[in-house]
Amino acid sequence: MSKSTNIVWHEAAVTRSDRHQLKGHKSCVIWFTGLSGSGKSTLANALDLLLFQQGLHSYVLDGDNIRHGLNRDLSFGKEDRQENIRRIGEVAKLFVDSGQIVSTAFISPFREDRNLVRDMFKEGEFIEVYVKCPINICEDRDPKGLYQRARRGEIPEFTGISSPYEAPVEPEISLDTSLMEIEDCVRTILSYLKERKIL
Ligand code: PPS
Repeated sequence: MSKSTNIVWHEAAVTRSDRHQLKGHKSCVIWFTGLSGSGKSTLANALDLLLFQQGLHSYVLDGDNIRHGLNRDLSFGKEDRQENIRRIGEVAKLFVDSGQIVSTAFISPFREDRNLVRDMFKEGEFIEVYVKCPINICEDRDPKGLYQRARRGEIPEFTGISSPYEAPVEPEISLDTSLMEIEDCVRTILSYLKERKIL
């Protein structure tokens, strides 16, 4: 709910299509969603590196990092997760407006929240990537030891253990990181971007 009144939207002098022309590619958000330990950050960063090496303009917004700053006031309760995702959606929109390819790596466990973000973008600009991985494998990987702590009851509302994860129904891309190598996952996303003429 907006508390701001008496505000007027300013049109930018440089349009999005001006920026696309200058950069030589379109902008979009690649929205990685999946359980903790599924590989979201790894994939987002591998993709970002490849795009960067090709001279393209890209950036990664990562759950853990954003929660150190912009969203440090938010918990892992349902309402705060919703606000977390809403704010990231708005930030991602600014990046897309600036002509960049922005990858976001947030669990974003609730379908409704992801769909609210999707609705912030124009057709084709929001690319949902389901980073699929069985929970037992995420738990075996447990890179930060969080599953172990969650099982001991030390982390409340831990996604997949004591808080739900709602898998995407029709994601643009679905990648099973328990079966595919990182390179193949990144190649799949690149092919998608080329097919859709974003690159
Ligand atoms: S969410 O659900 O989208 O708001 O979460 P996100 O902002 O992506 O933050 C997820 C990272 O926070 C750590 N963490 C937790 N995850 C899930 N549930 C609970 N309760 C929790 N507490 C801390 C964890 O490191 C997540 O990072 P990833 O990269 O997903 O492992």
